[in-house]
Amino acid sequence: MKIGIICGSHRNESQSEKVGRYAAAQLAEQDLCDEVFVFSLAGNPLPFWDEGVWTGDAKWEDAIGELRRELAGCDAFVVVSPEWHGMVPGGLKNFFLLWPGSGVLAHKPALIISVAGGAGGGAYPVAELRMSSYKNSRLCYLPEHLIVRNAGSVFNADPSSNDAESQDYLHGRLIYCLEMLREYAIAFAGIRASGKTSLETYTNGM
Ligand SMILES: Cc1cc2nc3c(=O)[nH]c(=O)nc-3n(C[C@H](O)[C@H](O)[C@H](O)COP(=O)(O)O)c2cc1C
Repeated sequence: MKIGIICGSHRNESQSEKVGRYAAAQLAEQDLCDEVFVFSLAGNPLPFWDEGVWTGDAKWEDAIGELRRELAGCDAFVVVSPEWHGMVPGGLKNFFLLWPGSGVLAHKPALIISVAGGAGGGAYPVAELRMSSYKNSRLCYLPEHLIVRNAGSVFNADPSSNDAESQDYLHGRLIYCLEMLREYAIAFAGIRASGKTSLETYTNGM
């Protein structure tokens, strides 16, 4: 089993990437999958969508061909999004523009992790991703998600930088989410193998 982790912050050294890499380490440590693929949007590695995506422009094959192959090989995903002005960052929305039709995310389970710097944020990215990123990609979000608030005080490499109580709670809850994601991934492989999830006739959702 291979699990892909998409880190949605454009910032270098973001809290979202820190959390995404912590989740990657836990997947390996808890033996929850065979392989982890981490993709970070730090520094905006992807071009902004244009119609060449649909016409198979060579520029786009160069830009995303390898990434498409990596995503296609994943059985499940973790989507880590910071809350930026109450939104998902534009680079992460751009990421979701690139895959509909290819089926690389289709009928695969995904765990949302939302990351906020303060004590009150983090709900909006969950709502936004659940509302708008799945229709044509056919990505299937788990009913469970994780909101990491006060992100600077948890999941740090140096334990003395962590708020012990928050770290303990969020670590336990993260493992609960990742174990659940693994079980969904196993079950969804059977769903995809059924032949009933073809995108041939109804390529886009309603
Ligand atoms: C452009 C921008 C807008 C932000 N807006 C919010 C916000 O609306 N709510 C919030 O809780 N935090 C907000 N933050 C703080 C981020 O949640 C914080 O930086 C956190 O570490 C997650 O972002 P990161 O993964 O880019 O580090 C914002 C940060 C940036 C860079």
